Amino acid sequence: MKPNIAIDGPAGAGKSTIAKKLAEKLGYLYIDTGAMYRALTYCALKKGVNINDQEKLTDLAKRVDIFLSANEDGQLKVYCDGEDVTPHLRDPKVSQCVSRVAEVPGVRHRMVELQRKMASAGGVIMDGRDIGTYVLPEAQLKFFITADLGERARRRLKDLEKQGYEGDLEEVKKEIAMRDDKDSTRAFAPLKKAEDAVLIDTTDLTVDQVLQLIFKVIRERVKNDV
Ligand code: DC
Repeated sequence: MKPNIAIDGPAGAGKSTIAKKLAEKLGYLYIDTGAMYRALTYCALKKGVNINDQEKLTDLAKRVDIFLSANEDGQLKVYCDGEDVTPHLRDPKVSQCVSRVAEVPGVRHRMVELQRKMASAGGVIMDGRDIGTYVLPEAQLKFFITADLGERARRRLKDLEKQGYEGDLEEVKKEIAMRDDKDSTRAFAPLKKAEDAVLIDTTDLTVDQVLQLIFKVIRERVKNDV
Protein backbone atom coordinates (compact mmCIF):
# COMPACT_ATOMS: atom_id res chain seq x y z
CA MET A 1 0.00 0.00 0.00
CA LYS A 2 1.25 3.51 -0.82
CA PRO A 3 1.91 5.67 2.25
CA ASN A 4 -0.36 8.55 3.22
CA ILE A 5 1.12 12.02 3.61
CA ALA A 6 -0.21 14.43 6.26
CA ILE A 7 0.34 18.18 5.85
CA ASP A 8 -0.77 20.46 8.67
CA GLY A 9 -0.23 24.09 9.53
CA PRO A 10 -1.92 27.44 10.10
CA ALA A 11 -4.01 29.38 7.54
CA GLY A 12 -2.16 30.76 4.54
CA ALA A 13 1.10 28.86 5.12
CA GLY A 14 1.03 27.39 1.61
CA LYS A 15 -0.20 23.90 2.53
CA SER A 16 -2.61 23.50 -0.36
CA THR A 17 -0.16 24.81 -2.99
CA ILE A 18 2.47 22.36 -1.78
CA ALA A 19 0.04 19.46 -1.32
CA LYS A 20 -1.42 19.92 -4.82
CA LYS A 21 1.99 19.97 -6.50
CA LEU A 22 3.18 17.01 -4.48
CA ALA A 23 0.07 15.04 -5.40
CA GLU A 24 0.62 15.88 -9.07
CA LYS A 25 4.25 14.75 -8.99
CA LEU A 26 3.55 11.54 -7.08
CA GLY A 27 0.22 10.71 -8.73
CA TYR A 28 -1.47 10.74 -5.32
CA LEU A 29 -4.98 11.89 -4.44
CA TYR A 30 -5.11 15.36 -2.87
CA ILE A 31 -7.65 15.94 -0.13
CA ASP A 32 -8.17 19.48 1.13
CA THR A 33 -9.91 18.99 4.49
CA GLY A 34 -10.28 22.75 5.03
CA ALA A 35 -12.46 22.76 1.91
CA MET A 36 -14.74 20.20 3.59
CA TYR A 37 -15.24 22.42 6.66
CA ARG A 38 -15.72 25.40 4.36
CA ALA A 39 -18.30 23.52 2.27
CA LEU A 40 -20.29 22.64 5.37
CA THR A 41 -20.07 26.25 6.60
CA TYR A 42 -21.34 27.54 3.25
CA CYS A 43 -24.16 25.02 3.30
CA ALA A 44 -25.13 26.02 6.89
CA LEU A 45 -25.14 29.73 6.00
CA LYS A 46 -27.20 29.06 2.87
CA LYS A 47 -29.76 27.04 4.80
CA GLY A 48 -29.92 29.69 7.54
CA VAL A 49 -28.60 27.34 10.24
CA ASN A 50 -27.51 29.27 13.32
CA ILE A 51 -23.70 29.04 13.39
CA ASN A 52 -23.77 28.99 17.20
CA ASP A 53 -26.17 26.05 17.40
CA GLN A 54 -23.87 23.05 17.79
CA GLU A 55 -26.72 20.54 17.72
CA LYS A 56 -28.08 21.83 14.41
CA LEU A 57 -24.60 21.95 12.89
CA THR A 58 -23.95 18.35 13.98
CA ASP A 59 -27.25 17.30 12.51
CA LEU A 60 -26.45 19.04 9.22
CA ALA A 61 -22.97 17.45 9.10
CA LYS A 62 -24.54 14.00 9.48
CA ARG A 63 -27.11 14.56 6.74
CA VAL A 64 -25.17 16.45 4.12
CA ASP A 65 -23.26 14.62 1.41
CA ILE A 66 -19.84 16.23 0.92
CA PHE A 67 -17.99 14.93 -2.08
CA LEU A 68 -14.55 15.90 -3.46
CA SER A 69 -13.40 15.29 -7.00
CA ALA A 70 -10.67 16.58 -9.28
CA ASN A 71 -11.60 17.71 -12.81
CA GLU A 72 -9.48 17.01 -15.93
CA ASP A 73 -7.06 19.87 -15.09
CA GLY A 74 -6.50 18.49 -11.61
CA GLN A 75 -8.61 21.32 -10.10
CA LEU A 76 -10.38 20.20 -6.94
CA LYS A 77 -14.17 20.53 -6.91
CA VAL A 78 -16.28 20.24 -3.79
CA TYR A 79 -19.92 19.22 -3.93
CA CYS A 80 -22.52 19.59 -1.20
CA ASP A 81 -25.59 17.45 -1.82
CA GLY A 82 -24.72 17.49 -5.51
CA GLU A 83 -24.21 21.29 -5.77
CA ASP A 84 -20.75 22.47 -6.84
CA VAL A 85 -19.90 24.83 -3.96
CA THR A 86 -16.25 25.39 -5.02
CA PRO A 87 -16.79 29.04 -6.10
CA HIS A 88 -18.09 29.91 -2.61
CA LEU A 89 -15.46 28.30 -0.41
CA ARG A 90 -13.41 31.48 0.00
CA ASP A 91 -16.36 33.85 0.50
CA PRO A 92 -15.35 36.22 3.32
CA LYS A 93 -18.44 35.21 5.31
CA VAL A 94 -17.41 31.54 5.06
CA SER A 95 -13.85 32.41 6.19
CA GLN A 96 -15.25 34.33 9.15
CA CYS A 97 -17.51 31.49 10.32
CA VAL A 98 -15.59 28.33 9.43
CA SER A 99 -13.54 28.06 12.65
CA ARG A 100 -16.74 28.19 14.67
CA VAL A 101 -18.24 25.34 12.64
CA ALA A 102 -14.99 23.35 12.77
CA GLU A 103 -14.81 23.43 16.56
CA VAL A 104 -18.08 21.51 16.96
CA PRO A 105 -17.16 17.93 18.05
CA GLY A 106 -20.10 16.35 16.15
CA VAL A 107 -19.03 18.12 12.95
CA ARG A 108 -15.44 16.96 13.37
CA HIS A 109 -16.50 13.36 14.05
CA ARG A 110 -18.38 13.27 10.77
CA MET A 111 -15.65 14.97 8.70
CA VAL A 112 -12.93 12.76 10.20
CA GLU A 113 -15.00 9.67 9.40
CA LEU A 114 -15.18 10.75 5.73
CA GLN A 115 -11.49 11.68 5.66
CA ARG A 116 -10.35 8.34 7.09
CA LYS A 117 -12.50 6.49 4.58
CA MET A 118 -10.88 8.42 1.70
CA ALA A 119 -7.40 7.59 3.04
CA SER A 120 -8.07 3.94 3.77
CA ALA A 121 -6.47 2.67 0.56
CA GLY A 122 -3.30 4.80 0.95
CA GLY A 123 -1.75 7.12 -1.64
CA VAL A 124 -3.43 10.21 -0.23
CA ILE A 125 -2.01 13.65 0.53
CA MET A 126 -4.26 15.30 3.05
CA ASP A 127 -3.87 18.85 4.33
CA GLY A 128 -5.54 20.45 7.33
CA ARG A 129 -4.95 21.16 11.00
CA ASP A 130 -5.26 17.79 12.77
CA ILE A 131 -4.25 15.30 10.08
CA GLY A 132 -0.96 14.17 11.63
CA THR A 133 -2.24 14.29 15.21
CA TYR A 134 -5.77 12.96 14.92
CA VAL A 135 -7.12 11.99 11.49
CA LEU A 136 -4.16 9.89 10.30
CA PRO A 137 -1.82 9.45 13.29
CA GLU A 138 -0.30 6.42 11.53
CA ALA A 139 0.63 8.38 8.37
CA GLN A 140 4.17 7.49 7.39
CA LEU A 141 5.04 11.04 6.33
CA LYS A 142 3.99 14.15 8.23
CA PHE A 143 4.85 17.76 7.57
CA PHE A 144 3.96 20.89 9.54
CA ILE A 145 4.15 23.89 7.25
CA THR A 146 4.19 27.39 8.63
CA ALA A 147 5.27 30.97 7.81
CA ASP A 148 5.15 34.25 9.68
CA LEU A 149 1.77 35.98 9.95
CA GLY A 150 2.56 38.93 7.63
CA GLU A 151 3.75 36.62 4.87
CA ARG A 152 0.73 34.33 5.25
CA ALA A 153 -1.64 37.31 5.04
CA ARG A 154 0.11 38.60 1.89
CA ARG A 155 -0.22 35.16 0.24
CA ARG A 156 -3.89 34.83 1.22
CA LEU A 157 -4.65 38.32 -0.11
CA LYS A 158 -2.98 37.46 -3.44
CA ASP A 159 -5.09 34.27 -3.68
CA LEU A 160 -8.27 36.20 -2.90
CA GLU A 161 -7.48 38.85 -5.49
CA LYS A 162 -6.82 36.14 -8.08
CA GLN A 163 -10.28 34.79 -7.39
CA GLY A 164 -11.85 38.21 -7.89
CA TYR A 165 -12.35 39.20 -4.24
CA GLU A 166 -11.17 42.54 -2.91
CA GLY A 167 -9.32 42.59 0.36
CA ASP A 168 -7.28 44.69 2.72
CA LEU A 169 -4.00 43.33 4.09
CA GLU A 170 -4.69 44.37 7.69
CA GLU A 171 -8.17 42.82 7.54
CA VAL A 172 -6.81 39.56 6.14
CA LYS A 173 -4.10 39.55 8.83
CA LYS A 174 -6.72 40.02 11.54
CA GLU A 175 -8.95 37.27 10.14
CA ILE A 176 -6.06 34.80 9.89
CA ALA A 177 -4.81 35.62 13.40
CA MET A 178 -8.32 35.12 14.77
CA ARG A 179 -8.61 31.74 13.01
CA ASP A 180 -5.14 30.64 14.16
CA ASP A 181 -6.16 31.40 17.71
CA LYS A 182 -9.50 29.61 17.47
CA ASP A 183 -8.06 26.61 15.60
CA SER A 184 -5.18 26.09 18.01
CA THR A 185 -7.07 26.60 21.27
CA ARG A 186 -10.22 24.55 20.59
CA ALA A 187 -10.75 21.58 22.91
CA PHE A 188 -11.09 18.83 20.32
CA ALA A 189 -8.26 18.06 17.86
CA PRO A 190 -6.68 21.54 17.80
CA LEU A 191 -4.06 22.72 15.33
CA LYS A 192 -0.80 21.28 16.65
CA LYS A 193 2.40 19.90 15.20
CA ALA A 194 2.56 16.11 15.57
CA GLU A 195 5.71 15.07 17.41
CA ASP A 196 6.91 13.08 14.41
CA ALA A 197 6.09 15.80 11.83
CA VAL A 198 8.87 17.64 10.00
CA LEU A 199 8.59 21.39 10.57
CA ILE A 200 9.10 23.61 7.51
CA ASP A 201 9.04 27.40 7.81
CA THR A 202 8.24 28.65 4.31
CA THR A 203 8.52 32.41 5.05
CA ASP A 204 11.65 32.86 2.93
CA LEU A 205 11.32 29.81 0.69
CA THR A 206 9.93 29.41 -2.82
CA VAL A 207 7.42 26.66 -3.57
CA ASP A 208 10.17 24.72 -5.39
CA GLN A 209 12.49 24.97 -2.40
CA VAL A 210 9.78 23.63 -0.11
CA LEU A 211 9.12 20.76 -2.52
CA GLN A 212 12.82 19.92 -2.62
CA LEU A 213 12.92 19.74 1.18
CA ILE A 214 9.88 17.48 1.22
CA PHE A 215 11.30 15.14 -1.44
CA LYS A 216 14.54 14.90 0.55
CA VAL A 217 12.56 13.74 3.59
CA ILE A 218 10.54 11.31 1.48
CA ARG A 219 13.74 9.78 0.06
CA GLU A 220 15.23 9.43 3.54
CA ARG A 221 12.17 7.99 5.24
CA VAL A 222 10.52 5.81 2.67
CA LYS A 223 12.63 2.89 1.61
CA ASN A 224 10.31 1.38 -0.97
CA ASP A 225 8.81 3.33 -3.86
CA VAL A 226 6.38 6.11 -2.97
O1 DC B 1 -7.20 25.37 5.35
P1 DC B 1 -8.41 26.33 5.36
O2 DC B 1 -8.03 27.75 5.68
O3 DC B 1 -9.23 26.22 4.14
O4 DC B 1 -9.32 25.79 6.59
C1 DC B 1 -10.52 26.43 6.94
C2 DC B 1 -10.85 26.19 8.40
O5 DC B 1 -11.25 24.84 8.59
C3 DC B 1 -9.71 26.43 9.39
O6 DC B 1 -9.73 27.74 9.90
C4 DC B 1 -9.97 25.43 10.47
C5 DC B 1 -10.79 24.36 9.84
N1 DC B 1 -10.06 23.11 9.64
C6 DC B 1 -9.99 22.26 10.71
O7 DC B 1 -10.44 22.59 11.79
N2 DC B 1 -9.41 21.04 10.55
C7 DC B 1 -8.90 20.67 9.39
N3 DC B 1 -8.36 19.45 9.26
C8 DC B 1 -8.91 21.56 8.28
C9 DC B 1 -9.50 22.79 8.46
